[in-house]
Amino acid sequence: MSDRTTKLYEKIFANNLKWVAEKTANDAHYFERLSKTHDPAFLFIGCADSRVPANEIMGLDPGEVFVHRNVANIVPNTDKNVHSTIQYAVEHLDVQHVIVCGHYGCGGVDAAMQSSDMGQLNGWLHEIRDVYRFHRDELDAIPDPRARTRRLVELNVHEQCINVIKTGFVQKSYDKLGYPIVHGWVYALEDGILHDLEIPFESILKMVREIYRLEG
Ligand code: CO
Repeated sequence: MSDRTTKLYEKIFANNLKWVAEKTANDAHYFERLSKTHDPAFLFIGCADSRVPANEIMGLDPGEVFVHRNVANIVPNTDKNVHSTIQYAVEHLDVQHVIVCGHYGCGGVDAAMQSSDMGQLNGWLHEIRDVYRFHRDELDAIPDPRARTRRLVELNVHEQCINVIKTGFVQKSYDKLGYPIVHGWVYALEDGILHDLEIPFESILKMVREIYRLEG
């Protein structure tokens, strides 16, 4: 282990106490209040990449965004982890917005564009290879590899939004309450800017209902 890592590790608990002191300096009951309610308006599904901290890039405090992160912000149709998170967020936390946020420079998306054997990651990254397959004509027409990968990042977000909209929890809540609305964003590591892909939520919902109807 490097000296730097050891020093960083040793600082963590001191950092934590400093943070607690800062939070309670002007508001002695900050944690007590936070512990009593959990009422975030947003579910953020993002990449596990350490450079994409959900709360910070959205400018939100603890308690304001429910977060699920995995390699390359994927919502596989059979993944219990992400589906449990979506169900809990929609049915119990009553979130009004579900955001799938990808990022340019995503290592998971880059890896899916290579043909190397990634072990356990192979099956996971097949989800992105599927996105590539669905949009192969468009992607293969982009000559610059970096631009092609950036476009795949956007298309992956779009496809994962469709997977969120396919869930019964989202459709039922939307019918009853008029939300959640599903959004697709891309975060740019190089300048910190968030981009809204403005996915057509209503028309995706209509398409999903035609093809993936859940009623008998
Ligand atoms: Co990533």
